[in-house]
Amino acid sequence: MRTNVVLIEQTNELKYQAVELKNPGPNEVLIRQKAIGVNYVDVFFRNGTFPVDAFPAPIGLEAAGIIEQVGAAVKNFVPGDRVAYYGATGAYAAHRVLHENDLFKLPDDITFEQAAAVMVKGLTVHMLVKASHVVKAGEVVLVHAMMGGVGSLLSAWARSLGATVIGTVGSAAKKELALQRGFEQVIDLQTEQMTGKVDVVYDGTGKTTFQQSLALVNPGGSAVLYGWPSGMPDIDMQWMEDRSIHFVSAVLNHYPAYQDKSGKAMNEIFDLIRNGVLNLDHPTVYALTDAAKAHADLESRKTTGSIILKP
Ligand SMILES: NC(=O)c1ccc[n+]([C@@H]2O[C@H](COP(=O)([O-])OP(=O)(O)OC[C@H]3O[C@@H](n4cnc5c(N)ncnc54)[C@H](OP(=O)(O)O)[C@@H]3O)[C@@H](O)[C@H]2O)c1
Repeated sequence: MRTNVVLIEQTNELKYQAVELKNPGPNEVLIRQKAIGVNYVDVFFRNGTFPVDAFPAPIGLEAAGIIEQVGAAVKNFVPGDRVAYYGATGAYAAHRVLHENDLFKLPDDITFEQAAAVMVKGLTVHMLVKASHVVKAGEVVLVHAMMGGVGSLLSAWARSLGATVIGTVGSAAKKELALQRGFEQVIDLQTEQMTGKVDVVYDGTGKTTFQQSLALVNPGGSAVLYGWPSGMPDIDMQWMEDRSIHFVSAVLNHYPAYQDKSGKAMNEIFDLIRNGVLNLDHPTVYALTDAAKAHADLESRKTTGSIILKP
């Protein structure tokens, strides 16, 4: 069958195009995709920061949809099942063929949109608050880009663990949104200086924030670097060693809960949606045909929260 996909061209642009899809093999299924997650790492693959094998290159890590067809040896799924997956490159597509081991069944009370908005970002936060630095009640936590996709989940999750969250944002409008969500200590980096003392800084922004925010970390605290859209910061290990600051470079690909494609850790994250800690009811939605616009808006810091594409 033919389907529509978005691929990265050699020019570092995204192109929406029709391609021929192979039939599912014995252990594979055909999925009609309903919602696709957009992550900043997709921008890094598109713009050449991270290499791809060959052009045109598939892009996108996660999606949710409905199984339309199953291979002869598929054991765990039947047509009509609602499913989701993460960590399988090529998600920017209307239909996909994947091995059944890449998928998990989506609970009935989680929408396709919520799943696409939360899987990679939610597992990133799972890693950040449970492994990179274990957030404890009473701690003060600094979150950069606190209204971004990962940032808004991280801020809400850390607060639910009993931490006080100080957050930074890149505009007055984002500050207003953060205040509406009940965060009291919000710093608009365009007009305000970072102040305070914190037990941990979570930095998914990079060069423009990392070194400055280290000055706020208490001796014995943690500095977790997990992304660098503003560029890779210079990392002064001696400076951190002198102050007993624990430096962590956090990478989701190496996190066991992400490597396990059965979605086990997702249940914990879905529970946080069910009990209202994480709110993913209104992700920003773009048509799959507008994937290039979604990237442009993400890169130019126009978006807040999670972004999804709909075929
Ligand atoms: N380590 C891992 O394995 C892992 C896994 C997933 C995601 N990540 C990282 O997590 C971070 C957040 O990802 P996301 O998908 O949720 O994106 P996002 O936070 O929704 O978007 C990026 C945000 O970063 C801030 N920013 C500051 N300087 C920027 C610049 N020069 N260019 C663009 N943005 C800038 C902006 O917020 P303000 O305007 O409010 O500053 C922007 O909205 C990214 O760095 C991503 O690579 C890492």
